[in-house]
Amino acid sequence: MPRFQRPTGTVDVLPEEQPYWHYIRDRARHLAELAGFERLDTPIFEATEVFARGVGAGTDIVDKEMYSFEDKGGHRITLRPEFTAGFIRAYLENGMHVRPQPVKLYTFGPLFRYERPQAGRYRQHTQFNVEIIGEQDPMADLEVMLLAWDVYADLGFRDLAFQLNSTGCPHCKPGYIAELKAYYSHYQAQICDDCRRRLERAPLRVLDCKAEGCQPIIANAPHITDHLCTECADHFATLLEYLDLLGRRYTLNHRLVRGLDYYTKTVFEVWAAGIGAQSAVCGGGRYDGLAELLGGPPTPGVGFGSGLERIIMVMKELGIEVPPLAHPQVFLAHLGPAAQREALRLTDRLRQADIGVWTAFGERGLRSQLREAGKRNTRYVLILGENELQAGVVTVRDMEAGEQSKVPLPELVAWLTARV
Ligand code: HAM
Repeated sequence: MPRFQRPTGTVDVLPEEQPYWHYIRDRARHLAELAGFERLDTPIFEATEVFARGVGAGTDIVDKEMYSFEDKGGHRITLRPEFTAGFIRAYLENGMHVRPQPVKLYTFGPLFRYERPQAGRYRQHTQFNVEIIGEQDPMADLEVMLLAWDVYADLGFRDLAFQLNSTGCPHCKPGYIAELKAYYSHYQAQICDDCRRRLERAPLRVLDCKAEGCQPIIANAPHITDHLCTECADHFATLLEYLDLLGRRYTLNHRLVRGLDYYTKTVFEVWAAGIGAQSAVCGGGRYDGLAELLGGPPTPGVGFGSGLERIIMVMKELGIEVPPLAHPQVFLAHLGPAAQREALRLTDRLRQADIGVWTAFGERGLRSQLREAGKRNTRYVLILGENELQAGVVTVRDMEAGEQSKVPLPELVAWLTARV
């Protein structure tokens, strides 16, 4: 038989890694709910059209990275590569526009992109995703940014700063794109092949190019923030004022364009050292036209996604530790068939009383069971043998204090409850 391996670009999250996952989800959920966000879970797969229209044909995600297939009913299905388009689909489908607006939503879950795997970039990754749908006030942009910041600060990140830009709206973006193309027309010979293609399909992405030869051209390219219409410029100025007011640092980055087509106005990322070339620990922005792209009425929205794998990489890089997960503090050893049956009853009673217990399997000698107890790292070892059964007691070893005592069986739950 072949030995199977996990698919390229995926990870097994082993038990020893779980404390990070548990802790991050717990803190993020807590902070999101403090700010009035409610949880929404959508399916892991959607109709392919949701992403083709929402994220946009011409983006890497849609053109190269989607896990798409035809199901047995002949429907085109895609494993979600991101949350936002599915959230808007759910908002429209469930009539969430009749609730008090805006709705503030968050979730956690796996996403799928057929990417070239490297440190911090996987084919299945997990995001903490946050959206405010139905509000155009720049305060909504601020609120999602605050939540991202507060989560990272709470986890112990240092030197936080946003990368920030505005990508305009359907009124001002086309004018800027024309300007950008005109500027690039002077450099057709110097730019890389990718940029030549980008100018056709996704012109803003030329600003994101990593090729060395393109850098001086990008450095002198026109800035979109100089071409915003009054509404977009006001929106951006107000957001900057709010960020200043609350002391959240940002760097204006005219090259920040993001890889999804739905963005309007604000776009932002948070970068962190120590996670390799893929340095964005979160990315987001405003998407006021997305609902219409998906057949709904005009509905503004803003949000972000943050990769949990990347958050964990940063935490490890910074030496941030998390509390261990609870595990049983009691090991139950038993000797002989009658004691084993009593041990089963006792296990049941202890767990009903909310006391975690690891009960030895099989019939083994005391030494072997005590060795196992040592490895399981429990504070108390209970020993139940013929003698104990006859006397109606349990021998209890406190491994930390190095003490041993006999506790009457009927008193055991109370005895342990007082201690674990
Ligand atoms: P995104 O920038 O594609 O945006 O992804 C958001 C975050 O997810 C990234 O900053 C990164 O932390 C993580 N991430 C993305 N791809 C991978 C990968 N292949 N491996 C590991 N981590 C990854 C979006 O997905 C938008 N839907 C965010 C958003 C929400 N915009 C508005 N609302």
